[in-house]
Amino acid sequence: MDNANTIQNEVLNCILTRRSTRNYENRQIEMLQLDTILNSAIWAPSGGNSQTWLFTAIQNKEILLKLNVLVKEGFQKWIPDDDYPGKLGAKASSEKQNYNFYYHAPTLIIASNQPGYENAMADCSLALENIFLAAHSLGLGSCYINQLHWLRNDPNIRDFLFELGIPKEHTICSTAVIGYIGKASSPLPRKKDTIHIIR
Ligand SMILES: Cc1cc2nc3c(=O)[nH]c(=O)nc-3n(C[C@H](O)[C@H](O)[C@H](O)COP(=O)(O)O)c2cc1C
Repeated sequence: MDNANTIQNEVLNCILTRRSTRNYENRQIEMLQLDTILNSAIWAPSGGNSQTWLFTAIQNKEILLKLNVLVKEGFQKWIPDDDYPGKLGAKASSEKQNYNFYYHAPTLIIASNQPGYENAMADCSLALENIFLAAHSLGLGSCYINQLHWLRNDPNIRDFLFELGIPKEHTICSTAVIGYIGKASSPLPRKKDTIHIIR
């Protein structure tokens, strides 16, 4: 499949040109931009129209830095429960002195959901893609960040997230970072043979 042989329009162009950004400018996004992005999240589909998700946006630098310390500490104790290379890589990176799990982005959005709800991850992931596309349409960069999902049972992180209003029983599904793009990421080629059409 080749982009040149597919239909082009504004929405499709937004989907095709979004990239995960890992380098951000040191300035906050505007309130209207955040509101717009969060509103796009809650318009995602949800299983049985559950809408049991909670989106917590953190824009306070000190809180984000404190969270970074807790993530760094959390990784020291954390033993990955499988050999997914991303997890081991993330744990190894966290040992670097200048480690910052959210790439110093000015805004972090945590998507959490009710415990034991089978579609928790699916609903939050769909909402996250809305967040990424909305951010991209506004000229902002974004990235999926998995660290708080992996460390979702770390008691120190949960205490801190509880102070921020995230219920202790909620599962931390996924997080997104948003900000003005410092350095743009290059598109990563898509693997071949991942589409199968039966006519
Ligand atoms: C479930 C999931 C977890 C991800 N976790 C991270 C992460 O923790 N840190 C990160 O930098 N990127 C993360 N990403 C982003 C992917 O690395 C990225 O989407 C992929 O390399 C393709 O690049 P693109 O988004 O620019 O097309 C994650 C993406 C997904 C879907």
